[in-house]
Amino acid sequence: MDNKKLAIGVFDSGMGGISVLAELIKIMPNEKYIYYGDSKNAPYGVKTPSQVIELSKNICEFFIDKGVKAIVIACNTATSAAVKQLREIYDIPIIGMEPALKPAVEMNLDGKIVVMATEMTLKEKKFNELMKKYGQKSDIIKLPCPKLVELVESGIVDGVEVEKAVKECFTGIDINEISSIVLGCTHYIYLRESIRNVVGDRVYIIDGNEGTARHLKNILNSKDLLNDEEKREVYFDIYNSKNDRSIIELSKKLLKFSLEKLNCLN
Ligand code: SIN
Repeated sequence: MDNKKLAIGVFDSGMGGISVLAELIKIMPNEKYIYYGDSKNAPYGVKTPSQVIELSKNICEFFIDKGVKAIVIACNTATSAAVKQLREIYDIPIIGMEPALKPAVEMNLDGKIVVMATEMTLKEKKFNELMKKYGQKSDIIKLPCPKLVELVESGIVDGVEVEKAVKECFTGIDINEISSIVLGCTHYIYLRESIRNVVGDRVYIIDGNEGTARHLKNILNSKDLLNDEEKREVYFDIYNSKNDRSIIELSKKLLKFSLEKLNCLN
């Protein structure tokens, strides 16, 4: 089979990576996608790095059996813990997420930058290297937000409960001093409106989804792996470790919501 026609595997600890899948579909509409949400084991952020490596390897084995041409780790936590090990094992492009600290610092806005992410993402080597590179240039606040992932996993993405949880995360932080917020966990992308309600219109909110999608496109292009056949409709398969109809329905609902936001659907 022509390798260009193979699917791209996309995985996350659960629902968050669906927002990355939407961005991938926007930027590479001709590709086929297989999405795997590991909701049975979410959240990853409270596990040990070796547990996350093991879970990520199992998902990659699933993708390899399906015959994918590339894998996107649409999860900041799994990227922090496992990207290096996965690249050593598998001989296909493996793209991870990175908190969008670089663009946030380069905007050079007057005020502090808050990075919302899981405890593990903020502790791991990958983020510390980013901090070494950009931490001198700006005042950066690391903000672990453990409760937020579980809300998204339950399909709760707005309303009083979400805003209350977001406010709790920001306890002790003077919102007037913040210039921007980096969403360093793909689940939080679904909470952008609620975060906006808490911090107000003045604060810039940025995520790493578009950067990841563009990066994958460049890599596939450089390896002559971009699917160039014209397609009529979005092609994707969704799997979830919970093996429950309602979780697949929730995934599809979130995908539709994201595609609408990205103006991919009318
Ligand atoms: C989690 O599963 O704890 C969060 C996933 C992420 O970091 O994107």
